[in-house]
Amino acid sequence: MRIAFFSTQSYDRTFFSRYNNGHELVFFDAPLNEQTVSLATGFGAVCAFVNDVLSAPVIAQLAAQEVKLIALRCAGYNNVDLHAASQHQLPVVRVPAYSPYAVAEHAVAMILTLNRKIHKAYNRVREGNFSLERLTGFDLHGKTVGVIGTGKIGQVFIDIMLGFGCRVLAFDVVANRDLEAKGVEYRPLVTLLPDCDIISLHCPMNEQTKQIIGAQTLGMMKKGVMLINTSRGGLVDTRAAIDALKSGQLGYLGIDVYEQEEKLFFHNLSEVIIEDEVIMRLMSFPNVLVTAHQGFFTEEALTQIAQTTLQSINDFEAGKPLAFKIG
Ligand code: NAI
Repeated sequence: MRIAFFSTQSYDRTFFSRYNNGHELVFFDAPLNEQTVSLATGFGAVCAFVNDVLSAPVIAQLAAQEVKLIALRCAGYNNVDLHAASQHQLPVVRVPAYSPYAVAEHAVAMILTLNRKIHKAYNRVREGNFSLERLTGFDLHGKTVGVIGTGKIGQVFIDIMLGFGCRVLAFDVVANRDLEAKGVEYRPLVTLLPDCDIISLHCPMNEQTKQIIGAQTLGMMKKGVMLINTSRGGLVDTRAAIDALKSGQLGYLGIDVYEQEEKLFFHNLSEVIIEDEVIMRLMSFPNVLVTAHQGFFTEEALTQIAQTTLQSINDFEAGKPLAFKIG
């Protein structure tokens, strides 16, 4: 099958070419959106990523161009109008599980970096500054960690935090009995938030979770709390987070995802004037750590993403059931 890949980087080309078994792969740097959808003419499938826009008009155009399959090379699918896809009988597959360890471990890396100020220590020592002034951290042992969303990634994250000797409180629409058996306590958000020293988001972005962290929920948290978001930018009202950072209500913020990330992330903008005032303000805080959606970015995860996506395309071509179809 001819497959049009959008928003591709060198690593997409490397991993998909390595595991390709007979398909014609065409890699476009451009994101998929209303302006670029015509590039998919003549392709049987499109392969899209987190910031590609699969809105109703884009999907209608793909169907009109006789594209037969949308293959997401990611887990989240909040960027796809599933109703439009079903109306046009365009199946959408994704990669529901690719190394949950990659994202969970990145969340932990953010916690350790913010807490022990490794980013500052690295720069200081390189400049011959061996002072410890203002590098004080805190023991994770004995602290209370709140986990919002206890699915595949949340569970791995919880196991790591339990290993540090943390107490874990959780919020999810369904409680996981295995986690409860390990001592995890499920609570409603209103009683979870005030008791946590660290809060980490691991739920998907949907109507219920959009801006689940905003002025009101930030106000319920312990003063000086650490908030980590490796899930989706839209879970956090960034302007409210900035206000909370300014007042000291939020003591640390680690984000691997950002509401407006599609204009920034995955691109080298080091020679460009960045017009997004919100991210620039965020990056000016000494207690904020931003990474550019790299939670998934391990050898193991990239291998699984390529293998699972290509397997779904093989199955589609062979008329087999699609194990990872959404909906
Ligand atoms: P999952 O589907 O295994 O788990 C999600 C959990 O969230 C489930 O337990 C579900 O019940 C819960 N949930 C759903 N709605 C909720 C609500 N309204 N309130 C509270 N909990 C709710 O998903 P997985 O694999 O653990 O991934 C979680 C998220 O991580 C993805 O949706 C994606 O947005 C993000 N992600 C980020 C990556 C990165 O590179 N930074 C890479 C992969 C995923």
